[in-house]
Amino acid sequence: MTPNDSDSPRPEAERSAFEKARDEHEDVDPRTIPQELDADPPTGDDIDYPDYPASDHETWRLLVERQMEQLPGRACNAYMAGQETLQIEPGRIPDLSNLSRRLDEQTGWTVANVPGLIHEKDFFTLLSERKFPSTNYVRGRDELDYTPAPDCFHDMFGHMPMLTQPDFADFYQLFGQAALTAEGADRPRLERFHWFTVEFGLIREQGEKRIFGAGIVSSNEEVTHALSDDVTLHAFDPDHIVEKDDYEVYNLQDELFVLDSFEQLVDGFRAWTTRRGLL
Ligand SMILES: [Fe+2]
Repeated sequence: MTPNDSDSPRPEAERSAFEKARDEHEDVDPRTIPQELDADPPTGDDIDYPDYPASDHETWRLLVERQMEQLPGRACNAYMAGQETLQIEPGRIPDLSNLSRRLDEQTGWTVANVPGLIHEKDFFTLLSERKFPSTNYVRGRDELDYTPAPDCFHDMFGHMPMLTQPDFADFYQLFGQAALTAEGADRPRLERFHWFTVEFGLIREQGEKRIFGAGIVSSNEEVTHALSDDVTLHAFDPDHIVEKDDYEVYNLQDELFVLDSFEQLVDGFRAWTTRRGLL
């Protein structure tokens, strides 16, 4: 998920649905408070593999296996191919340095190992440098269905496969660049764009709707819900997405946007951000 700058309250028009929802929850999980990086995070081959207890590998296996029962025929081709390229397997939590090397071979992205949710300026800076910030923390067994904290199942299994797709990879770097420039109401607009594409995007392939958003592919319940008749679908339209401030932060999504191609994503984003003077 996109981190938020929680240092100071913002005018209502500049606040996102995510910020408003968070303010309504009294018990703030400390894992959801963004941290500021005080040094460059280890990247690529400099990332150490943690000494995970067996129970963490078992949690990973459970998460991957139950998700893979659902994804074939529902996730888009690029996601499925990306997962294979990255060699994401149920047997062992992946090593971030290996994932980084494989991503680099495909699209020039690498992985930066961050401690958890990071300050949005650090997050966008890394994206603008084609570095994907990932934690290596695995959620607890009691959080299989949902965790408010960033965890490596969401980051590795949810996000990284799509970064092997060239148009998506280019779009995500542009997103980081635009977000660093954005001010005022353009910030929540970009957050909405991120929400309805990177996290909850759908794409049409051979006439069928398919999933590519990380928030869907990594959620057991959302995979079937997102493709069900309970969801109202809209054609991809940046102007529509950026004004959509009523989305569900903690519940299943009831409206989603559908791309025709990943080229449409990068072209549409470039056109919108150029018009706004952000790129
Ligand atoms: Fe995410």
